[in-house]
Amino acid sequence: MDKEVFKDINYGMYIVSAKDENKVGCVINTLTQITSENPTISISVNKDNYTNQIINNTKKFIVSILSEQIDPNIISKFGFQSSRNVDKFKDIDYEIVDDIPVLLKDVCGYMVCDVIEEVDVGTHTLFIAKVSKAKKVSNLAPMTYKYYHEVIKGKAPKTAPTYIEEVKTNTWVCDICGYVHEGPVPDDFICPICGVDASHFKQKK
Ligand SMILES: Cc1cc2nc3c(=O)[nH]c(=O)nc-3n(C[C@H](O)[C@H](O)[C@H](O)COP(=O)(O)O)c2cc1C
Repeated sequence: MDKEVFKDINYGMYIVSAKDENKVGCVINTLTQITSENPTISISVNKDNYTNQIINNTKKFIVSILSEQIDPNIISKFGFQSSRNVDKFKDIDYEIVDDIPVLLKDVCGYMVCDVIEEVDVGTHTLFIAKVSKAKKVSNLAPMTYKYYHEVIKGKAPKTAPTYIEEVKTNTWVCDICGYVHEGPVPDDFICPICGVDASHFKQKK
């Protein structure tokens, strides 16, 4: 199978948030609008993601549509760390909408969603949800998955449904955010995505 084909599928970039006792959330790119009348969307969330567990328990989530202006550190925190171990909402701007934390800074808008069906797709759950509320919060350009890869130079972790393993030599990867640097990393190198130093770069096998 030529996995290069999958790279031409277009996506947006989102943060899905939910709450039980903890505020949780993660980056996703797999949001699809299914219907416009009585608006329905779907998202695909890895079963290993803590966010999956909380959505599964509460049947509610909010999706923020990320703009091109979003701070890459937010993507790094929500896309590469787990709410199991860190409070991702600590030290960032958010508001509570319908009891769920939602990012409002540098996002285009958000949708409050109620799960109506869950489809078990092996490694992932497809959550199908009705949108009960939607609010546009800016006119900023929405970030696409392609923009994230080509302009921000970001990567996707193994839990992302669209993850494709890259087999390359002489490639160094940031162990915090997954940023990939070609060629040896100089001692004074600072990760352009999450700001850590060269000691965090591991050579890809
Ligand atoms: C660009 C990008 C796209 C991603 N897309 C998805 C996705 O569609 N579904 C998913 O389950 N995880 C996706 N992820 C991975 C999760 O955001 C990541 O595993 C996160 O650390 C899970 O956090 P949690 O354990 O707090 O839920 C993506 C990550 C990045 C950086």
